[in-house]
Amino acid sequence: MSTLTSLDGGTSSNDTRSVLTTNTVSLPSSSNSQRGKEGFVRRLFDAISPGYDFFNRVASFGLDQKWRRQTIARLHLVPEMRVLDLASGTGDLARLAAEEIAPLGCVVGCDLSGEMLKLAQKKFAKIPSARWHIKLTQGRAENLPFQDQSFDAATMGFALRNVSSLDETFREFHRVLKPDGRLSLLEFSRPNGFLVRLGHRFWLTVAVPLIGIITTRKVWPFLYLRHSILQFMPTAEVVKRLESAGFTNVQAESLTFGSVTIYSARRP
Ligand SMILES: C[S@@+](CC[C@H](N)C(=O)[O-])C[C@H]1O[C@@H](n2cnc3c(N)ncnc32)[C@H](O)[C@@H]1O
Repeated sequence: MSTLTSLDGGTSSNDTRSVLTTNTVSLPSSSNSQRGKEGFVRRLFDAISPGYDFFNRVASFGLDQKWRRQTIARLHLVPEMRVLDLASGTGDLARLAAEEIAPLGCVVGCDLSGEMLKLAQKKFAKIPSARWHIKLTQGRAENLPFQDQSFDAATMGFALRNVSSLDETFREFHRVLKPDGRLSLLEFSRPNGFLVRLGHRFWLTVAVPLIGIITTRKVWPFLYLRHSILQFMPTAEVVKRLESAGFTNVQAESLTFGSVTIYSARRP
């Protein structure tokens, strides 16, 4: 069973037109403000939502679901838990978590993009016999629409680069998790080693935009993707910020030659 609650009013205008300068991407000029980045990111995901899942499968060589399963495994879920999937998008992590805790547990998927959530809702509706419970709601990572200590576990996939404030997002995770709650985050990272880095650059610069054009008929979101991965902070900095937000047992585990990282932590 799944439900979708939504959808708040739009922010202004032309953010998605902002974007290109040759092979780099500039966020809209208003992106100095949090709201500017949020508007841009929301429009980006609204725009690519129909091709998003297919893009993921092809561009990751089919590894993306394996990474998600590993991310959910770090939560050590047990039935009856209440789990948050923040930046849930089309709901793949939410579904994996919901399968683990069915039929008594519940997953709440929260995302900025109404279009991504609508797709998640459609995907879940195609499996009427499912015994899981998933609720979807539109909201901002930096100001979650949930009460303090309302989740046993929380996850987020591929959105650390996209939120407008990482520190506020981590503080919100800490606020909504119960004591002893676990957090598991999946994000792209930059591999070590000259040859792997070279291959990674090629993948980001050539393969990803090409696959993006084929699957969504748009290129600018994939230039942003490249930019956001290359500019994102080092793994050690993410670990430091999770610790500053009050998490303990923070670990960063690199997968697939370091091209993705799972961050896991505990809320004391
Ligand atoms: C790359 S998608 C990842 C979707 C999903 N987690 C997955 O594993 O495929 C990033 C998602 O983060 C959402 N997002 C970005 N910034 C956000 C924010 N500040 N608050 C909530 N969601 C946000 C986007 O709307 C998008 O659906």
